[in-house]
Amino acid sequence: MARNSTLPRVIAHRGASGSAPENSLSAIALAANEGALAVEIDVNVSADGVPYVHHDDTLERCTTGRGLLHECSAETLDSIEINTLPEFTDEPLPRLTAVIDLILQRGLALNLEIKPPRGRAVETTEAICTLIESEWPESATLVFSSFDRAALEHAMHRLPEVPRALLVGGIPDDWPAAMRAVGGTNLHCSVKGFDADRARELQAAGHRVYCYTANDDEVAMRLLDDGADGVFTDWPGRLLQSLAGRG
Ligand code: G3P
Ligand code: MG
Repeated sequence: MARNSTLPRVIAHRGASGSAPENSLSAIALAANEGALAVEIDVNVSADGVPYVHHDDTLERCTTGRGLLHECSAETLDSIEINTLPEFTDEPLPRLTAVIDLILQRGLALNLEIKPPRGRAVETTEAICTLIESEWPESATLVFSSFDRAALEHAMHRLPEVPRALLVGGIPDDWPAAMRAVGGTNLHCSVKGFDADRARELQAAGHRVYCYTANDDEVAMRLLDDGADGVFTDWPGRLLQSLAGRG
């Protein structure tokens, strides 16, 4: 049976990544502390098939490691740390399993973005699905998303009951065909790519439309007013306060 694909209006992008290192355990915990009900994370897979939460193909921008994540063993990846913010020390590059534990403990919904390096859609998605199958309870909200349509297609065959979001810049003219091809429930577009008329068409067809990454609260609130079902932000606590302030 298909599961719930409704994410809340405010989704913490890479955790509360405006105030804590992106895609870290601290950023997830902070998002929950700030009142967020859902987080988005990026997931890639080690050379020996272990999923890690990390945005880039390479390790240099965010960690003490070097090279391509998918070419490193889990043993190597477990020994490196996230080093984007000096005030956060001893911050491991987290395995997906550790992040899932924390997310479930805090009662958050999850948007798991599958981030395969080019040409690795199937093996990346397969490793993620295997872990989700054993560790994610049916009752908790989970939505897969990806820019990589082959990854979504594999997820559709492998775990059809997990809702899928097609990630795009702008909403494509051929969105019905694109959504059909991946069995998409949601479409996640960029802030600049949002189009209220197109969003209404998608919603009339039963889909939901979310926008990334709305770090300006005024922009985020305008998108919600214009019909977006929700927005991704690096500053979930601040946006939640701005929304509460409007009554
Ligand atoms: O899932 C929304 C957003 O995270 C997509 O872009 O590059 O921030 O992963 P990116
Ligand atoms: Mg992402």
